[in-house]
Amino acid sequence: MSLESDALIDAPAHEFGFDTEQLHAGYQGEAAHGARITPIYLTAGFIFDDFDQAAARFGGSDAGYVYSRTNNPTLAALEQSIARLERGAGATLAGSGQAAIAVGLLGVLAAGDHFLSTPSIYEGTRALFRGNLSRFGIEVEFVDDPNDPDDWARRVRPNTKLFYGEAIPNPKNDLIDIELIANAAHAHGLPFAIDSTVPTPYLLRPIEYGADIVLHSTSKFLAGHGSTIGGVTVDAGNFDWSKHPERFPHLFKPMVAGDPTTWIEKFGPLANFAFTRSVVAGRLGTSFSPFNAYQVQQGIETLSLRMERHVANAQVVAEWLDRQPEVSSVDYPGLPSNPYHALAQRYYPKGPGSVFAFTLTGGQEAAKVVYNAVEVFTRMTHIGDVRSLILHPPTTTHSKLSQAERDAGGIWPGLLRLSVGIEDVSDLIADLDRAFKVLRGENPPSLHAGAGAGERVQADGL
Ligand SMILES: Cc1ncc(COP(=O)(O)O)c(C=O)c1O
Repeated sequence: MSLESDALIDAPAHEFGFDTEQLHAGYQGEAAHGARITPIYLTAGFIFDDFDQAAARFGGSDAGYVYSRTNNPTLAALEQSIARLERGAGATLAGSGQAAIAVGLLGVLAAGDHFLSTPSIYEGTRALFRGNLSRFGIEVEFVDDPNDPDDWARRVRPNTKLFYGEAIPNPKNDLIDIELIANAAHAHGLPFAIDSTVPTPYLLRPIEYGADIVLHSTSKFLAGHGSTIGGVTVDAGNFDWSKHPERFPHLFKPMVAGDPTTWIEKFGPLANFAFTRSVVAGRLGTSFSPFNAYQVQQGIETLSLRMERHVANAQVVAEWLDRQPEVSSVDYPGLPSNPYHALAQRYYPKGPGSVFAFTLTGGQEAAKVVYNAVEVFTRMTHIGDVRSLILHPPTTTHSKLSQAERDAGGIWPGLLRLSVGIEDVSDLIADLDRAFKVLRGENPPSLHAGAGAGERVQADGL
């Protein structure tokens, strides 16, 4: 068994800028016709020249492609691009962000294991932990205060195997201190896995602060255009798995019957990456379509430009909302008054993302009026789109939580979540201003020429 050579990356001699890397990293050329864009290799398998080559590819002495469930040139180019942008050692794509999180964690965790998580995480991930991993005998425990190292330390048990967190949790943007958590994990000989979907590598590289596994939903800002679903797990290649045979016994077992070589012996610090890629992703078949990889690659080429506009627009929208008398709180750490502002300045000097919530004093009824009144923001459950989106989490993404859990998380009835897009920010403000006028009982005209006053127009019908 081999790890395909193109699943791993080599650092270039020159330190290229982000804008250059997002265009060029991962591209491997195309010998047949010289295509400048990595072609979409929509093929199930790859031809073996002869009997010996087939055996060599299965045996690992020939690193060529075999079958697209395990690897494919279009996927490899994107994996290398993302691994390079994150400063990781290698990346494995999965069919969705949820699949990537499942794959990343199942590479480390097995039945009987326990892991610790920050409390504010994507609700789909919470459901995965509580409803799916629990059925495999894997127990999750949530810390109360993720930025208190003692809260982590006192919960560590002999069977604890991993710390988990989310870089910019939405909708509350209650930022975590990534380096503090990584240090707390490493003090106990444990890896730290982090979902970095919202910042993307342009705003944050968690590996530079000690994270060992970085997870993304590529459906969001990386693809950016709301047209595709996907995910990726990136391995830093820094965690020393070889020190912990009792904790990670699967990496100390022979890789294949009839050969005593273990994962640790063959791959060293990349043992977890190799195991996760080959045994978990490869066998569960969480594959990514080459067509989707093409879309994500196209998105990544403009990532920095889009993220700059996303965060600039988010800041203006947050400041505007903060000035409205009907708004009791704006959960955007770019605001100096926000309790997470200091963490935002430390970890996100380019801006703390563009997905945040605000709460209306008028409760759910007020939220409903604003939600129904917007004409540019799209009513949709998604984030990281070039278009601005709006959602009412208490009745949608967070509706399966108990009232006590919603209260504890600050998911008040009047809370609305925005994913601020890259439109003209003056139009976003005009849209919100008009929606707030509707809330005040005024009868503002529609932003759309020809539409009647107060008439509801679909956002995508501009
Ligand atoms: C932070 C975060 N992580 C993971 C996911 C799951 O990603 P996907 O929808 O691609 O499965 C989402 C989806 O909204 C998310 O917001």
